[in-house]
Amino acid sequence: MSGFPELRLRRLRRTPALRSMFRETRIDVDDLIYPLFVVEGRQIKEEIASMPGVFRYSPDMLPAEVEEIAGLGIPAVILFGIPSDKDEQGSGAYHPEGVVQKAVKAIKGAVPDMVVVTDVCLCEYTSHGHCGVVVDGYVDNDKSLELLAQTAVSQAQAGADIVAPSDMMDGRVKAIRQALDENGFHLVPIMSYAAKYASALFEPFRYAAESTPGFGDRRSYQMDSPNWREALREVEQDIAEGADIVMVKPALPCLDVIRQVRDTFRHPLATYNVSGEFAMVKAAARNGWIDERRVVLEILMSIKRAGADVIITYHAKEAARWLAER
Ligand code: PBG
Ligand code: ZN
Repeated sequence: MSGFPELRLRRLRRTPALRSMFRETRIDVDDLIYPLFVVEGRQIKEEIASMPGVFRYSPDMLPAEVEEIAGLGIPAVILFGIPSDKDEQGSGAYHPEGVVQKAVKAIKGAVPDMVVVTDVCLCEYTSHGHCGVVVDGYVDNDKSLELLAQTAVSQAQAGADIVAPSDMMDGRVKAIRQALDENGFHLVPIMSYAAKYASALFEPFRYAAESTPGFGDRRSYQMDSPNWREALREVEQDIAEGADIVMVKPALPCLDVIRQVRDTFRHPLATYNVSGEFAMVKAAARNGWIDERRVVLEILMSIKRAGADVIITYHAKEAARWLAER
């Protein structure tokens, strides 16, 4: 018995119960991380035009928001700060009273069990909008490391549970690990954006975070899209430097890379379903061209099927509601 008509793969698809029983991949609310944008000020909750349903919050507005997130069963948030002042050195990123540091304290004070991840990067804080220090018009790798390490330490001091460097400088995981350990934060894990591509899909985020580079682009530090072997080298290097969790970003254009990383390494694997992926779905849904719920759950499922353990996604709150209804 080797084929049709004895073999019929449709047998296990006949009813909802059979399909559910033999489903190979499940998406769970525990897999989701919700991004939050934080601005200086009070009583601010402003919608981001490029990302419908996503808001910028002042720190005092975060407890209520995070209680809602926790109520939906979402275990973690990742914070991005938008400071009121930017400078050449991105000093708002590592100021003890910086906007993200304040946000971490506000969240941990209200919902201590919420896992708070902080994005470690300088682009939201630099006047030139690059992810590191600029010397003679070029982003200087080694000069950026110290500031990135300082940023991670100040976030840990504020109470961050996980630090997540997204700058793509070489050696930053090692520099951050060393600085965390020297300051007593041996137990703060690093989730490194290990394979982060220079993607056109980050555009809505840059509008949200006011982090568009003032000159040039990020191609001299973020990865070139056609490269997959290089992604494995990036992941290998970050693991060697002490990354606890590695990330591939963006998600949908990189499902092949997610699969390769999953098959090659044993580390927990995160992925970022980025702003442009979210905005495309929202725009089509608003036009009535797609069924948003089905599309979002299909996308999240495909990312899990590719091998990701956790997904950072702006769809997290809606997905949590849909998953609870099923
Ligand atoms: C900052 C950062 C970016 C994103 C996450 N961290 C933007 C960038 O690198 O330009 C993008 C996230 C998204 O598009 O949702 N380095
Ligand atoms: Zn950056």
